[in-house]
Amino acid sequence: EMLLHENKDLKGKNILITAGPTREDIDPVRFITNRSTGKMGYAIAKAARDRGANVTLITGPTNINPPSFIDVVNVYSAEDMYKAVEERYDSCDVLIMSAAVADYRPKVKSDVKIKKSDDDLKIELTRNKDILFELKERKRNQVVIGFAAETNDLLENAIKKINKKNLDYIVANDVTMKDSGFGTETNTVKIIDKFGNITDYPNLPKEEVAHHILDLLVK
Ligand code: CTP
Ligand code: CA
Repeated sequence: EMLLHENKDLKGKNILITAGPTREDIDPVRFITNRSTGKMGYAIAKAARDRGANVTLITGPTNINPPSFIDVVNVYSAEDMYKAVEERYDSCDVLIMSAAVADYRPKVKSDVKIKKSDDDLKIELTRNKDILFELKERKRNQVVIGFAAETNDLLENAIKKINKKNLDYIVANDVTMKDSGFGTETNTVKIIDKFGNITDYPNLPKEEVAHHILDLLVK
Protein backbone atom coordinates (compact mmCIF):
# COMPACT_ATOMS: atom_id res chain seq x y z
CA GLU A 1 0.00 0.00 0.00
CA MET A 2 1.43 3.39 -0.93
CA LEU A 3 1.48 6.20 1.56
CA LEU A 4 0.36 9.09 -0.57
CA HIS A 5 0.05 11.96 1.85
CA GLU A 6 3.30 13.94 1.71
CA ASN A 7 2.51 16.20 4.63
CA LYS A 8 3.03 14.38 7.95
CA ASP A 9 1.20 17.09 9.85
CA LEU A 10 -0.16 14.64 12.46
CA LYS A 11 3.20 13.04 13.17
CA GLY A 12 3.43 11.60 16.68
CA LYS A 13 -0.23 12.27 17.54
CA ASN A 14 -2.05 9.38 19.20
CA ILE A 15 -5.43 9.17 17.56
CA LEU A 16 -8.17 6.82 18.75
CA ILE A 17 -10.87 6.20 16.17
CA THR A 18 -14.02 4.11 16.58
CA ALA A 19 -15.91 2.70 13.62
CA GLY A 20 -18.76 0.48 12.57
CA PRO A 21 -21.84 -0.78 14.36
CA THR A 22 -22.07 -2.77 17.57
CA ARG A 23 -24.06 -5.97 18.05
CA GLU A 24 -26.28 -6.60 21.04
CA ASP A 25 -27.12 -10.27 21.46
CA ILE A 26 -30.64 -11.50 22.04
CA ASP A 27 -29.69 -15.19 22.07
CA PRO A 28 -26.92 -17.31 20.48
CA VAL A 29 -28.36 -16.83 16.98
CA ARG A 30 -29.82 -13.30 16.99
CA PHE A 31 -28.69 -9.77 17.68
CA ILE A 32 -29.72 -6.13 17.34
CA THR A 33 -27.52 -3.84 15.26
CA ASN A 34 -27.73 -0.83 12.92
CA ARG A 35 -26.89 0.11 9.33
CA SER A 36 -23.36 1.39 9.93
CA THR A 37 -20.75 -0.22 7.65
CA GLY A 38 -17.64 1.41 9.13
CA LYS A 39 -16.54 3.12 5.90
CA MET A 40 -16.27 6.61 7.36
CA GLY A 41 -14.27 5.52 10.41
CA TYR A 42 -11.92 3.33 8.36
CA ALA A 43 -11.37 6.24 5.93
CA ILE A 44 -10.41 8.48 8.86
CA ALA A 45 -8.03 5.83 10.21
CA LYS A 46 -6.27 5.51 6.86
CA ALA A 47 -6.07 9.27 6.32
CA ALA A 48 -4.66 9.82 9.82
CA ARG A 49 -2.06 7.10 9.28
CA ASP A 50 -1.02 8.69 5.98
CA ARG A 51 -0.50 11.99 7.82
CA GLY A 52 1.87 10.40 10.32
CA ALA A 53 -0.41 9.77 13.32
CA ASN A 54 -0.23 6.69 15.56
CA VAL A 55 -3.67 5.28 14.91
CA THR A 56 -5.72 2.88 17.02
CA LEU A 57 -8.93 1.77 15.32
CA ILE A 58 -11.55 0.29 17.64
CA THR A 59 -14.03 -1.38 15.38
CA GLY A 60 -17.31 -3.19 15.61
CA PRO A 61 -18.02 -5.99 13.10
CA THR A 62 -17.55 -4.79 9.50
CA ASN A 63 -16.69 -6.31 6.13
CA ILE A 64 -13.77 -3.97 5.50
CA ASN A 65 -10.09 -4.90 5.72
CA PRO A 66 -8.46 -2.47 8.11
CA PRO A 67 -5.64 -0.29 6.78
CA SER A 68 -2.14 -1.64 7.43
CA PHE A 69 0.32 -0.12 9.92
CA ILE A 70 -2.29 0.80 12.51
CA ASP A 71 -3.42 -0.89 15.75
CA VAL A 72 -6.77 -2.59 15.35
CA VAL A 73 -8.99 -3.57 18.28
CA ASN A 74 -11.97 -5.68 17.30
CA VAL A 75 -15.01 -5.36 19.53
CA TYR A 76 -18.52 -6.73 19.39
CA SER A 77 -20.97 -4.99 21.70
CA ALA A 78 -21.33 -1.43 22.96
CA GLU A 79 -20.07 -2.61 26.33
CA ASP A 80 -16.89 -4.00 24.70
CA MET A 81 -16.42 -0.76 22.80
CA TYR A 82 -16.83 1.26 25.99
CA LYS A 83 -14.11 -0.78 27.71
CA ALA A 84 -11.73 -0.57 24.75
CA VAL A 85 -12.10 3.22 24.44
CA GLU A 86 -12.02 3.87 28.18
CA GLU A 87 -8.76 1.95 28.59
CA ARG A 88 -7.01 4.04 25.96
CA TYR A 89 -8.60 7.43 26.45
CA ASP A 90 -6.15 8.98 28.93
CA SER A 91 -3.17 8.37 26.66
CA CYS A 92 -4.70 9.64 23.43
CA ASP A 93 -4.43 13.13 21.96
CA VAL A 94 -7.55 12.82 19.86
CA LEU A 95 -10.71 10.69 20.04
CA ILE A 96 -12.90 10.44 16.96
CA MET A 97 -16.13 8.53 17.68
CA SER A 98 -17.49 7.63 14.29
CA ALA A 99 -18.94 4.31 15.51
CA ALA A 100 -22.70 3.83 15.59
CA VAL A 101 -22.88 2.53 19.14
CA ALA A 102 -26.13 0.76 20.03
CA ASP A 103 -28.07 2.79 22.60
CA TYR A 104 -29.85 -0.28 24.02
CA ARG A 105 -29.21 -3.98 24.52
CA PRO A 106 -31.57 -6.78 25.47
CA LYS A 107 -31.91 -6.73 29.23
CA VAL A 108 -31.24 -10.45 29.36
CA LYS A 109 -29.33 -12.49 26.82
CA SER A 110 -30.82 -15.96 26.53
CA ASP A 111 -28.20 -18.73 26.72
CA VAL A 112 -30.32 -20.90 24.46
CA LYS A 113 -32.12 -20.13 21.24
CA ILE A 114 -35.50 -18.55 21.94
CA LYS A 115 -38.24 -20.76 20.49
CA LYS A 116 -41.25 -19.26 18.78
CA SER A 117 -44.66 -19.60 20.32
CA ASP A 118 -48.09 -18.50 19.15
CA ASP A 119 -47.86 -15.34 21.26
CA ASP A 120 -46.12 -12.07 20.53
CA LEU A 121 -42.57 -11.85 21.80
CA LYS A 122 -41.52 -8.90 23.92
CA ILE A 123 -37.83 -8.16 24.31
CA GLU A 124 -37.02 -5.71 27.04
CA LEU A 125 -34.11 -3.38 26.26
CA THR A 126 -31.86 -1.62 28.70
CA ARG A 127 -29.62 1.43 28.13
CA ASN A 128 -25.98 1.05 27.16
CA LYS A 129 -23.46 3.52 28.52
CA ASP A 130 -22.94 6.62 26.41
CA ILE A 131 -19.19 6.40 25.84
CA LEU A 132 -18.61 10.08 25.10
CA PHE A 133 -20.79 11.17 27.99
CA GLU A 134 -18.98 8.85 30.42
CA LEU A 135 -15.58 10.22 29.38
CA LYS A 136 -16.62 13.85 29.61
CA GLU A 137 -15.30 14.29 33.17
CA ARG A 138 -11.94 12.78 32.27
CA LYS A 139 -11.17 15.15 29.44
CA ARG A 140 -7.79 16.92 29.76
CA ASN A 141 -6.16 18.12 26.56
CA GLN A 142 -7.78 15.69 24.19
CA VAL A 143 -9.59 16.91 21.13
CA VAL A 144 -12.86 14.97 21.02
CA ILE A 145 -14.88 14.69 17.83
CA GLY A 146 -18.32 13.09 17.71
CA PHE A 147 -20.66 12.22 14.87
CA ALA A 148 -24.38 12.76 14.57
CA ALA A 149 -26.38 10.84 11.99
CA GLU A 150 -29.86 12.32 11.92
CA THR A 151 -33.05 12.02 9.88
CA ASN A 152 -34.54 15.37 10.99
CA ASP A 153 -33.64 18.60 12.81
CA LEU A 154 -29.97 17.96 11.94
CA LEU A 155 -28.35 21.10 13.33
CA GLU A 156 -30.49 21.34 16.42
CA ASN A 157 -29.86 17.70 17.36
CA ALA A 158 -26.15 17.88 16.58
CA ILE A 159 -25.61 21.04 18.65
CA LYS A 160 -27.34 19.46 21.66
CA LYS A 161 -24.87 16.57 21.44
CA ILE A 162 -21.84 18.92 21.45
CA ASN A 163 -22.97 20.34 24.77
CA LYS A 164 -24.16 17.13 26.38
CA LYS A 165 -20.92 15.27 25.56
CA ASN A 166 -18.53 18.24 25.82
CA LEU A 167 -17.20 17.79 22.28
CA ASP A 168 -14.82 20.02 20.39
CA TYR A 169 -16.52 19.23 17.10
CA ILE A 170 -19.42 17.22 15.80
CA VAL A 171 -19.69 15.90 12.26
CA ALA A 172 -23.37 16.01 11.35
CA ASN A 173 -24.88 14.14 8.48
CA ASP A 174 -28.41 13.82 7.24
CA VAL A 175 -28.83 10.11 6.55
CA THR A 176 -31.95 10.66 4.43
CA MET A 177 -29.85 12.44 1.77
CA LYS A 178 -28.91 10.55 -1.36
CA ASP A 179 -25.23 9.44 -1.50
CA SER A 180 -24.76 10.26 2.15
CA GLY A 181 -24.67 8.29 5.38
CA PHE A 182 -24.82 4.53 5.81
CA GLY A 183 -22.92 2.33 3.38
CA THR A 184 -22.32 5.02 0.76
CA GLU A 185 -18.93 5.89 -0.77
CA THR A 186 -19.56 9.60 -0.28
CA ASN A 187 -20.90 11.80 2.48
CA THR A 188 -22.38 15.29 2.78
CA VAL A 189 -21.53 16.68 6.20
CA LYS A 190 -21.64 19.81 8.26
CA ILE A 191 -18.98 20.24 10.92
CA ILE A 192 -19.98 22.25 13.97
CA ASP A 193 -17.50 23.47 16.57
CA LYS A 194 -18.16 24.02 20.27
CA PHE A 195 -18.82 27.71 19.65
CA GLY A 196 -21.60 26.87 17.20
CA ASN A 197 -19.69 27.75 14.03
CA ILE A 198 -20.96 25.62 11.17
CA THR A 199 -18.97 24.62 8.09
CA ASP A 200 -20.88 23.08 5.19
CA TYR A 201 -19.15 20.64 2.87
CA PRO A 202 -20.36 19.43 -0.52
CA ASN A 203 -20.94 15.75 -1.24
CA LEU A 204 -17.42 14.26 -1.19
CA PRO A 205 -15.77 10.84 -1.16
CA LYS A 206 -15.43 9.63 2.44
CA GLU A 207 -11.60 9.82 2.09
CA GLU A 208 -11.88 13.55 1.41
CA VAL A 209 -14.33 14.06 4.27
CA ALA A 210 -11.81 12.25 6.46
CA HIS A 211 -9.06 14.71 5.51
CA HIS A 212 -11.32 17.70 6.22
CA ILE A 213 -12.02 16.27 9.68
CA LEU A 214 -8.29 15.80 10.32
CA ASP A 215 -7.59 19.35 9.11
CA LEU A 216 -9.48 20.51 12.23
CA LEU A 217 -6.62 19.10 14.32
CA VAL A 218 -3.86 21.08 12.66
CA LYS A 219 -5.32 24.56 12.43
N1 CTP B 1 -22.04 7.57 21.22
C1 CTP B 1 -21.33 7.06 22.29
N2 CTP B 1 -21.88 6.09 23.07
C2 CTP B 1 -23.13 5.66 22.85
C3 CTP B 1 -23.89 6.19 21.77
C4 CTP B 1 -23.30 7.15 20.98
O1 CTP B 1 -20.18 7.49 22.50
N3 CTP B 1 -23.63 4.71 23.63
C5 CTP B 1 -21.39 8.58 20.35
C6 CTP B 1 -21.40 8.23 18.88
O2 CTP B 1 -20.27 7.47 18.54
C7 CTP B 1 -21.39 9.61 18.23
C8 CTP B 1 -22.13 10.49 19.21
O3 CTP B 1 -22.10 9.79 20.47
O4 CTP B 1 -20.10 10.13 18.07
C9 CTP B 1 -23.56 10.76 18.85
O5 CTP B 1 -24.23 9.52 18.66
P1 CTP B 1 -25.79 9.53 18.36
O6 CTP B 1 -26.30 8.14 18.29
O7 CTP B 1 -26.03 10.46 17.20
O8 CTP B 1 -26.34 10.29 19.65
P2 CTP B 1 -27.06 9.79 20.95
O9 CTP B 1 -26.51 10.62 22.06
O10 CTP B 1 -26.96 8.31 21.10
O11 CTP B 1 -28.55 10.26 20.72
P3 CTP B 1 -29.71 9.63 19.76
O12 CTP B 1 -29.27 8.30 19.24
O13 CTP B 1 -30.91 9.58 20.63
O14 CTP B 1 -29.86 10.64 18.63
CA1 CA C 1 -27.61 6.81 19.51
